[in-house]
Amino acid sequence: MSDGTLPPVVDNHEAAMHWAGQMGSVLGTLQALPPSPAKLPFPIVGYSLYQVPADQRATSLVKKALQLGYRHLDTAAEYYNETETGQGIRESGLPRSELYVTTKLRDNDYGFDPTTVAFNDSLKKLGLDYVDLCLIHSLHGGPRSRLESWRAMEQLHREGRVKSIDVSNYGLNQHDIAVAAYSPLSRGKKSDDPTLTKLATKYNRTWVQILVRWLIQRGYVALVKTVNEARLATSIDVLDFELSDVDMKALDALHEDLHVEPVEVTQFDLTLLHL
Ligand SMILES: NC(=O)c1ccc[n+]([C@@H]2O[C@H](COP(=O)([O-])OP(=O)(O)OC[C@H]3O[C@@H](n4cnc5c(N)ncnc54)[C@H](OP(=O)(O)O)[C@@H]3O)[C@@H](O)[C@H]2O)c1
Repeated sequence: MSDGTLPPVVDNHEAAMHWAGQMGSVLGTLQALPPSPAKLPFPIVGYSLYQVPADQRATSLVKKALQLGYRHLDTAAEYYNETETGQGIRESGLPRSELYVTTKLRDNDYGFDPTTVAFNDSLKKLGLDYVDLCLIHSLHGGPRSRLESWRAMEQLHREGRVKSIDVSNYGLNQHDIAVAAYSPLSRGKKSDDPTLTKLATKYNRTWVQILVRWLIQRGYVALVKTVNEARLATSIDVLDFELSDVDMKALDALHEDLHVEPVEVTQFDLTLLHL
């Protein structure tokens, strides 16, 4: 990808990107709501601005990511770097139509009017006329205010200011819905794992490339977060090799049902019937 080749796109049948959270399900609500917006493709590997400091570094990392071939940027009001993200996009000189930009609503902004105000603020910070995807960031705030947020997002969608709306941190992996991995690199906790190390040697790749490749071969969206330019290049350089079935199964077997922030899980209201 360092030659600027674009990553592949996932055909997203629900025009929706759901995060692989460990909590809850929105299935009942999805069935009750109007059909999802138009079908949209998006790049399966994206650059996450999670915990990227809101300063010049964020701008130059976004610019660098776009130079390297990333076309999918994932930010959030809660990441406090939408302004710098927008600046990086402008400095890249790339046409807006080539990019897939996601932002997320902070849970303090749930409710119809607060969502509209917060979303407009995000757009203004990003300097964009629309975002490709806006997510309800978490299951905090109670089902009523999340439902009002959803109605506000539907209105924003009708107005063309967001192409696709969805939820984050709801556990859901069915119905043809694309799922993005939560902490896809295990926050580095598994960098010394013997299976990963063995496969990295076998394929002459880094442990991160093995993990990203495993994700995309399983059909998950990989949003890689890094503040390191060299790592940015490494993480997207995963398209010219393929893990064998046996090795994919060896990686599947590493599943430990790990939860990054177990305390948070218990704070969420796990409802099947409401957003
Ligand atoms: N929806 C939510 O509420 C939510 C919550 C948490 C996380 N997420 C998502 O999960 C993703 C990232 O989560 P995360 O930061 O918790 O975990 P992660 O992706 O598992 O790990 C990120 C860590 O890996 C390191 N790293 C990145 N590329 C590397 C490379 N090539 N070699 C070695 N280390 C590398 C980064 O360090 P450096 O930065 O120092 O390179 C960073 O500390 C993002 O997409 C984020 O948006 C979502």
